[in-house]
Amino acid sequence: MKVISLIGARPQFIKEAVLNKAFKKVGVEEIIVNSGQHYDYNMSDIFFKTLGIKSPDYNLEVGSGLHGEMTGKILIEFEKLTMKINPDVILVYGDTNTTLAGALVGAKLKIPVAHVEAGIRMLPKDMPEEINRVLADRISTYLFCPTQRSVENLKKEGIEEGVYFTGDVTYDLYLQMEKDFDYSLYNSLNLVGNEFVVVTIHRDYNVDNKTQLRNILKALVDVSRNKKVIFPMHPRTRKRIEEFSLGEFTEYFEILDPLDYLSFMGLIKNCSSVITDSGGLQREAYYAKKPAFLLMPDPAWHELVEKKMNFLCKPEDLVKMMEREKDYKHIPYIQGKGNAAEQIIKILMENQC
Ligand code: UD1
Repeated sequence: MKVISLIGARPQFIKEAVLNKAFKKVGVEEIIVNSGQHYDYNMSDIFFKTLGIKSPDYNLEVGSGLHGEMTGKILIEFEKLTMKINPDVILVYGDTNTTLAGALVGAKLKIPVAHVEAGIRMLPKDMPEEINRVLADRISTYLFCPTQRSVENLKKEGIEEGVYFTGDVTYDLYLQMEKDFDYSLYNSLNLVGNEFVVVTIHRDYNVDNKTQLRNILKALVDVSRNKKVIFPMHPRTRKRIEEFSLGEFTEYFEILDPLDYLSFMGLIKNCSSVITDSGGLQREAYYAKKPAFLLMPDPAWHELVEKKMNFLCKPEDLVKMMEREKDYKHIPYIQGKGNAAEQIIKILMENQC
């Protein structure tokens, strides 16, 4: 079996780490194609280095652009490359423009597409990631679901064939890497016990609208009166803060460049809570037994909100909501066994060989 994994954005590099290791273990040929959607060292290369992923075999170097432009460029280049490689399966991950372009290429060339992290649904329906998810699920052959809820979501849309519940690949990664989490930042920033929060914000609905971004930053300034605010900043967010002249707020925070997974998780393990709009961090906070306050209209992981481990917030009630931090109870709920990658590969091998 010859597999292409198409990746290109930060969360995909993280997921690829587990798949790459699992492919190596069973001796399956995996060709890694990086679309180049994320290109800054801290958004891309650092993950290959720190997580031991083999360097991509190809880099399409599409870089940033309008959504259509980026998706279109990947389509053109990835189609040509796929025809040359002629793989048995194309693996795509998550919900980025890279995911959609990869799924489209596979579907058009009649090469089976495997979607890792299928079936997640989130409002607003017009957010770019939701569009990418729904469309990728429609045209994928294998739909690897991280939760039972995602299996149900697909069922509601009439998709039952090729659907497999495997658990979450980022849980695999958490279990594999926990012993290697890097606490040097925690030490060098002189952080004390639980007296700090970690913030990540990058969704278009939060950062591309000046009023919303200002409201979020103001709320974080209020948070900073009680807790140190550690803010590894996505390049999109940094750009918008400059563009909208909102820099005055940032002096209340410890702003960091985007971090590699191990350093980031070293902070998460010790913080008192997480404030985020990231679907990935929502569940990583859960794995680390930390409450997450979500500046999102709708969570990726509804179960965590229902079980009161994640809390949906508006910027104006963030400080009040954070009082719930002290009542946090970690409720284990089974979402796979931490062997999602192994299962994915087993299913592919059984079906493709
Ligand atoms: C993308 C994904 C999102 C994922 C996120 C993780 C889509 C539609 N969204 O969002 O699902 O959660 O990645 O980060 O694909 N930029 C840089 N350097 C980089 C990368 C980006 O400066 O290495 C800047 C560029 O100005 C770019 C902007 O950030 O225009 C946004 O990047 P883009 O890849 O379009 O979307 P993300 O917000 O990162």
